[in-house]
Amino acid sequence: MRWDFKKLTDDVEQDAGQIVDAQHLEAFRLKYLGKKGLIPEIYSSLGTLPPQEKPLVGKGVNDLKGRINEILELKKGQIGEQAQASRQQSLDVTIPGVSREIGHAHILSQTVNEICSIFERMGFVVQEGPEIESEFNNFTALNIPADHPSRDGFDTFYLDVKNPQEKSNLLLRSHTSPGQIRIMQEHKPPLAVVIPGKVYRPDAVDASHSFMFHQIEGLLVDRDVKFSDLKGLLIHFCEELFGKDIEMRFRPHFFPFTEPSAEVDISWKGGKKKWLEIMGCGMVNPKVFEHCGYPKGKYTGLAFGMGVERMAMLRHGINDIRLFYENDKRFLSQF
Ligand code: PHE
Repeated sequence: MRWDFKKLTDDVEQDAGQIVDAQHLEAFRLKYLGKKGLIPEIYSSLGTLPPQEKPLVGKGVNDLKGRINEILELKKGQIGEQAQASRQQSLDVTIPGVSREIGHAHILSQTVNEICSIFERMGFVVQEGPEIESEFNNFTALNIPADHPSRDGFDTFYLDVKNPQEKSNLLLRSHTSPGQIRIMQEHKPPLAVVIPGKVYRPDAVDASHSFMFHQIEGLLVDRDVKFSDLKGLLIHFCEELFGKDIEMRFRPHFFPFTEPSAEVDISWKGGKKKWLEIMGCGMVNPKVFEHCGYPKGKYTGLAFGMGVERMAMLRHGINDIRLFYENDKRFLSQF
């Protein structure tokens, strides 16, 4: 017989033993199954064979082709596994990873949240008001007279448009105190709110001034609220925020919307006695209640207002207010 299938099978097995990579595998496939390969050659020889040999050669070539296909499948699988294994070997798990930078709240937001949550634990509710306010809410209702210097265009940003309802001027609020008016116009006592937000004043920017900064306002109104309530509340607040290690004093001051009024100073015990002013406060002036439509003499209240930047600067030893707004990650990532 022209074809010795025993020998051909041995050749195939031997060649198969040489296959170590994808290139060898392809050469093997071409050698046997390619257009000019052995298997097509045998098939095309069938026509020239004597009839009695045809069935034997036909079976022989089919078996051989079957075995070759088996080998191809098997080797393909092995080579794929090897490639994966070697990729895994080249993975050095001791190389530092690519870490994702995870953001966090800005130091001013953190400070606002901390301060508000101290008051929330004492039953206060957090409310926000608009940054564009009416002249009425920002000044008039707060008993700030028409000729008060803070109402001057040099000390307040006025808007060109009028308030369509009230025909009074619109402005960027210069403090969060107009939030008091909004709350009292909408709600009856008892009430206790803190109002955080941005405020605007046309100050030249330097290490301690900015045309925009943040305040937190507090307002508590009920029957029989006393100055001692104000003191107790703010002492507790300062000890929570700055630690028990501080001394406080209430220094008489003047605000048109509170009477009596005070400024609060703190100092750290033990160190050189240096008083730092941290907020304004007082008992709500009855004239403010009148502007909000509360009945005369029925309620008393306390109010306070503090600068958020100032609080953060004192707590963290930050010496320039501009750092808060520059978005320099070397600064921001420290908090
Ligand atoms: N609004 C005052 C300011 O901006 C602070 C203040 C608020 C004082 C409430 C007393 C009561 O300086």
